[in-house]
Amino acid sequence: MSGVVSMSTDPAPETGSGTPAGAAAPGRVAVIVPAAGKGERLGPGAPKALRELGGLPLLVHAVRTLVAARSVDLVVVAAPPDPQGVAEVQRLLADLPGDTRVVAGGTSRQESVALALAALPADCDVVLVHDAARALTPVEVIGAVVAAVRGGAGAVIPVLPVTDTVKAVDGDLVTATVDRSTLRAVQTPQGFTRDILAKAHAAADPAAPATDDAGLVEALGLPVRTVPGHAEAFKITTPFDLVLAEAVLRRRR
Ligand code: CTP
Ligand code: MG
Repeated sequence: MSGVVSMSTDPAPETGSGTPAGAAAPGRVAVIVPAAGKGERLGPGAPKALRELGGLPLLVHAVRTLVAARSVDLVVVAAPPDPQGVAEVQRLLADLPGDTRVVAGGTSRQESVALALAALPADCDVVLVHDAARALTPVEVIGAVVAAVRGGAGAVIPVLPVTDTVKAVDGDLVTATVDRSTLRAVQTPQGFTRDILAKAHAAADPAAPATDDAGLVEALGLPVRTVPGHAEAFKITTPFDLVLAEAVLRRRR
């Protein structure tokens, strides 16, 4: 049921170009785009990734930036798992340049990522995972994450400082003020060597799915490195976020 559909319009990638004689050719960089969520917090309507921002689905904004990134070779989207969702995503991606593929997503984000990971070609050795809902993520963030993985980090996440004061509560009573100087808000794309991401997902508990992939790497006791995130890489979750995204897009155009 979750067959991979290749949408590539490009010729097969050249191998070995730019590689010094004797050195192993570096593998390709794939980006998994979990896009199978319902978008319940956004309110009633189509699955969130297919909802429109400035006349185009969120997924199209996200994938357009990914295929434009010089460091990205392949994009695999985990689509809403019903036949209609998969067909719609196939149709949208067919209009975009680059090597893009579709798999049917799962019931949790973690499962959607695992299904796409299982469908990656063997020659991808760096894997990014990027939420379709972070539709306006600037291309620079993608480049910085790939560069950090290529530079030797096994797991990389873009982060921002937390600007609000954060408190722990029990019901409506405050129990503590958390030291925000050590806290970071986490974004995507998160980048990994393929080995580490595969190990992390193999060890993950499907009954208690994680909200991000780096969390699964942390659970293995492996280090996760941070790079600077970007305000415009925010996740579109609520109707207010969509208003904010429309404003960001208007300013860009
Ligand atoms: N996602 C996915 N598969 C799921 C659930 C979520 O691929 N079963 C994806 C979403 O499509 C989104 C990303 O994971 O791009 C982040 O999830 P979130 O912002 O929570 O999106 P939704 O689950 O769609 O929203 P909600 O939780 O409000 O229903
Ligand atoms: Mg969700």
